[in-house]
Amino acid sequence: MRYFLLLVAALLPVPVRAQTAVVSVAPTPERQKEIVHLVRQDCGSCHGMTLQGGLGPSLKPEVLRGKPADSLIATIYGGRPGTPMPPWHRFLTEAEAGWVVDQLMRGFPVE
Ligand code: HEC
Repeated sequence: MRYFLLLVAALLPVPVRAQTAVVSVAPTPERQKEIVHLVRQDCGSCHGMTLQGGLGPSLKPEVLRGKPADSLIATIYGGRPGTPMPPWHRFLTEAEAGWVVDQLMRGFPVE
């Protein structure tokens, strides 16, 4: 029983810490290329190939500016239940979602 409790404690998720800086560690240049491809292809299918909006809203800097980065990161990482926005945690780490938000805010790189 004691060991069981220890196991449960070990498996509890670490609370997500509040993010002040959007990106702590940038992905490697190679991984950045893969992520840019993913966003242009997969996110572009809903948010528009130029990310100007489609089924999903525009992800242009002028639209995202002023929205809290951590909520945008949470949207990408966990999706928005009840809307078509799917979670991306199987494809992106939370840090990578942070990098995506950072890039979106600056104007997303082209491939
Ligand atoms: C199947 C369609 C679909 C795909 C694919 C998709 N999204 Fe979305 N996304 C949506 C919809 C719809 C919303 C609006 C949800 C709502 O109503 O709040 C949204 C919302 C968002 C928001 C919040 C925007 C805001 O102004 O609050 C962000 C950021 C976002 N998506 C980023 C992404 C990224 C990055 C990807 C790819 C990794 C992606 N989305 C893929 C449909 C999609």
